[in-house]
Amino acid sequence: MNEPTTIVIFGASGDLTGRKLIPSLFNLYCKKRLPDNFRVVGVARRPWNDEKFRSDMESDLKEFAPKKYNAETWSEFAPNLFYQPGDLNVTEDIEQLKERLVDLEGQSEGPNNRIYYLAIAPRLYEVSIKNLGEAELVNESNGWRRVVIEKPFGHDLPSAKALNASVHRTLHESQIYRIDHYLGKETVQNILVFRFANSLFEPVWNRNYIDHVQITAAEAVDIGHRAGYYDGVGVMRDMMQNHMLQLLSLVAMEPPASFEADPLRNEKVKVLSSIRPIPPSESGKHTVRGQYKGYLEAKGVASDSQTATYTAVRLLVDNWRWQGVPFYLRSGKALADKVTEISIFFKRPPHMMFPRPEDIKIEANDLSICVQPDEGIHFSFQAKVPDTAADMRNVDMSFHYEDSFGEVAIPDAYERLLLDVIKGDASLFTRGDSIELAWGLVDQILEGWESENAPPLVTYEPGTWGPSAADDLVAHDGFTWHLSCLHS
Ligand code: BG6
Repeated sequence: MNEPTTIVIFGASGDLTGRKLIPSLFNLYCKKRLPDNFRVVGVARRPWNDEKFRSDMESDLKEFAPKKYNAETWSEFAPNLFYQPGDLNVTEDIEQLKERLVDLEGQSEGPNNRIYYLAIAPRLYEVSIKNLGEAELVNESNGWRRVVIEKPFGHDLPSAKALNASVHRTLHESQIYRIDHYLGKETVQNILVFRFANSLFEPVWNRNYIDHVQITAAEAVDIGHRAGYYDGVGVMRDMMQNHMLQLLSLVAMEPPASFEADPLRNEKVKVLSSIRPIPPSESGKHTVRGQYKGYLEAKGVASDSQTATYTAVRLLVDNWRWQGVPFYLRSGKALADKVTEISIFFKRPPHMMFPRPEDIKIEANDLSICVQPDEGIHFSFQAKVPDTAADMRNVDMSFHYEDSFGEVAIPDAYERLLLDVIKGDASLFTRGDSIELAWGLVDQILEGWESENAPPLVTYEPGTWGPSAADDLVAHDGFTWHLSCLHS
């Protein structure tokens, strides 16, 4: 872990580097978690130099992570940042980069480990990795070489398969780190701790006690200036294929034998392979697609765009644990608030012995995992109202990270993920097979959306919780959407 390490960021002039990568690396540096001998080499086509890169990164840190900024520590950190202008498609540029890396690493004894972070346009992944291979930049004779690939990994199953096959021609799977930043979120990792480090919940975590599960990833922001990427991609590819299905996998998986990359990822793959695909002919029955009003007027969006900015789906997991338990997933942009929540609804008691008016149904126990922004867990249960014969009311038992771990700031997901790449721990990265399974599910839904059985593309008002068709989807099964994390 404490061996000399170089982090090469391709696409270093882009948003991700200044907003997330450098602030996360800086924070790791402040916490003394980076190797003693490390450097970051930014690569992009712009004709910048080290000084310009350093000062831009400092400004970005001040803007995007002001609480992390500290002038004195920055002045120690900045000399480890370098910039090399170049294009991964130009042989001469790659040769120059190679020389520069050897030159920078030259002062240190081997091994000289390297991370190549692809923060570039997804259409360039394949050719970039091929070129890295041909230039012998991923050869592991002098230290490990790891390649980090951002999402989206492919835009459908055939392209994801082709990308996996092509990447595997150059790299071994153990060298590949496919990012899904949701897995780097503390609260997402806490799903496993909550389920498997407590003995209370696992015995009831199944179809015998759980009625249904809701997963919401709502965003208040609209697509902003991202039309170039988003239009034609939409919520199904942008959120469902990756983040949402990963959350579902963590909630539904069996306990792995150990907390290591392969046992963990094997269990997630089993869940994804148990999800019943939604055949295109049933698309209208199990899915909803929406578009917020005003989307078509956004800059860069085609005036007749059919891109969905909202979706809700009903999924079933065909295995012994979950048979018959519906999982409802919804996600959208331009909604009333930003909240990511997983709610587990338990079955109602089989018999109510307390005298109650017949038309009043008691609320079922609900366990809500608040992924963000108010990280924590809520559990609601019935309590007796004092000074009544047997009236009862739903009350909340809650845990907030802020209250229990106030002294520890919750790190950005990228901080944890970058550290894991340095450590060589791929547990929180998605493996090729799971990406393909997720695409298989999403492709079928998208095929349905193109067919005559497509659910209508319904519009919704920005600032609401989405189209009423999503309420109908759950109402059909006798449920309503529920958010506990917002009301704390
Ligand atoms: C990204 C999507 O992967 O996740 C974005 O491309 C989305 O469209 C973002 O806004 C949401 O991430 P977070 O961490 O803000 O919930």
